[in-house]
Amino acid sequence: MNFINAKNISKDFGGVHALKGVYFTVRQGEIMGLVGQNGCGKSTLIKTLAGVWRPDGGTLEIAGQKVENPSPFIAIKLGVSVIYQDLSLFPNLSVLENICLGPIIGDNSLLSRISLYRGKAMEILARLGIDINPDDLVEDLPIAKQQLVAIARALANDSRLLILDEPTTALTRREIIQLFSLLSNLKKGGISFVFISHKLGEILEICDRVTVMRDGSIIGTEEAASLNISQIEGMMLGHALALQKKTAFRSGKEVVLSVEHLSKKNHFLDVSFALHAGEVLGLSGLLGSGRTELASAIFGISPADSGKILIRGKEVRIASVGNAIHYGIAYVPEDRLTQGLVMPHSISNNIVIATLEQYLGRLALLSFQKIGLTVKNWISKLDIKTDDARKAASTLSGGNQQKIVIAKWLAMNPAVLIMDGPTVGIDVGAKRAIYDTIQTNAAQGMAVIVISDDIPELLANCDRILIMHGGRLTVEMPTSEADEESLQRSMEIRSGA
Ligand SMILES: Nc1ncnc2c1ncn2[C@@H]1O[C@H](COP(=O)(O)OP(=O)(O)OP(=O)(O)O)[C@@H](O)[C@H]1O
Ligand SMILES: [Mg+2]
Repeated sequence: MNFINAKNISKDFGGVHALKGVYFTVRQGEIMGLVGQNGCGKSTLIKTLAGVWRPDGGTLEIAGQKVENPSPFIAIKLGVSVIYQDLSLFPNLSVLENICLGPIIGDNSLLSRISLYRGKAMEILARLGIDINPDDLVEDLPIAKQQLVAIARALANDSRLLILDEPTTALTRREIIQLFSLLSNLKKGGISFVFISHKLGEILEICDRVTVMRDGSIIGTEEAASLNISQIEGMMLGHALALQKKTAFRSGKEVVLSVEHLSKKNHFLDVSFALHAGEVLGLSGLLGSGRTELASAIFGISPADSGKILIRGKEVRIASVGNAIHYGIAYVPEDRLTQGLVMPHSISNNIVIATLEQYLGRLALLSFQKIGLTVKNWISKLDIKTDDARKAASTLSGGNQQKIVIAKWLAMNPAVLIMDGPTVGIDVGAKRAIYDTIQTNAAQGMAVIVISDDIPELLANCDRILIMHGGRLTVEMPTSEADEESLQRSMEIRSGA
């Protein structure tokens, strides 16, 4: 039986046709993968299923019932829950309160029944086989556990379909395996899922069928077992894309940035390395290995306790982000959407915001023509999907918003560029554009650090790779000597995994 039956759905935003005659089904007890490039319409489709958007045309059936007047309330009543990437939990409420919020709100005799809710929350947590204290505050839980609370909450609302929008982005491999086994178990109980991800390997691992979208249309829906990654990429892009290991390595003579015995209590210990002009250095390790904290220290977000940072051989003091920018360091954070954008501002302003002084002409007037050209150039280079750069950044799809943050820092033309998770949440086509940009900038002398746990990405981009574990640098190897297996092993062996 089809739990979801969407026929010929269309949705416009102004002049943008976000959905064009979409047919989409989800069977009871299946995991349906939903993939496609940034801005192709995935989030718009699930928001239509969830009653957030009213479609401009087409019909929608949920659980065998035709939805005449879509609203989030109706969707929830019919059993549809969306777990957005930010999870939308209440951080300062307890696990119990978060799980049972839905039922509690509809209850008039709350006080007398609170123990009943405790029982219900405990039962769901036990059914999911998760060990969480229901009285813990959600803000004190690691992200993977918060996600489980969000799933438990959906089940407390008697959901029959859970839509997961890029659920594995912030999870370690071990947590992903746990999540997948939970989804498989729930599926056996008849629960359906829509699973959105840009990680195609995971899509094939967990999904029964896969729906591929391009430009607001469905390109096809296939059994996962009959697909491989390059076939999906081909459907997404209209052509194939192969990622090859980097073959021409650079190791510049001039050391641009070096750190010596850098330490920060509870985060990293005695880290030393040198970065050369024109070099792309990979920095990897499992989540929690200290790699992001190290980058934050170099960029002055949370300075180290001891050790030295040198720029071109001269010791410098980096106590703030301002100091770091002064020395020509730029940092593209992993958490780009909360740290990187001024949402109500235009796409154009967001791209040039960090570099406005470059556009000052005579009499200190901004050259709007120059700004316009720069913005146009980045929009085409990174394939940012918009029809007008004057629109607010908030009108872009998630992945296209990320590209804006990347453009902003690249436009600075820094001496040292640190990119944390440069392609997290970014589709394969735009990935290629970002890789090309990294290589072009390095060829012109920029020193680049790429922080990533995507091993093919490291192999394709880096000249040398460093691996951290438990706050220490444990491996340093030239990419020419590295391969997927050895890198994977060196990350995991040392974690005891
Ligand atoms: N609220 C909105 N106002 C105007 N345009 C929008 C709005 N939401 C989405 N769009 C546009 O609709 C199109 C589809 O966007 P959508 O968010 O569905 O993409 P997506 O497939 O989820 O992409 P991503 O992988 O980047 O998250 C894009 O062109 C986007 O700019
Ligand atoms: Mg999206």
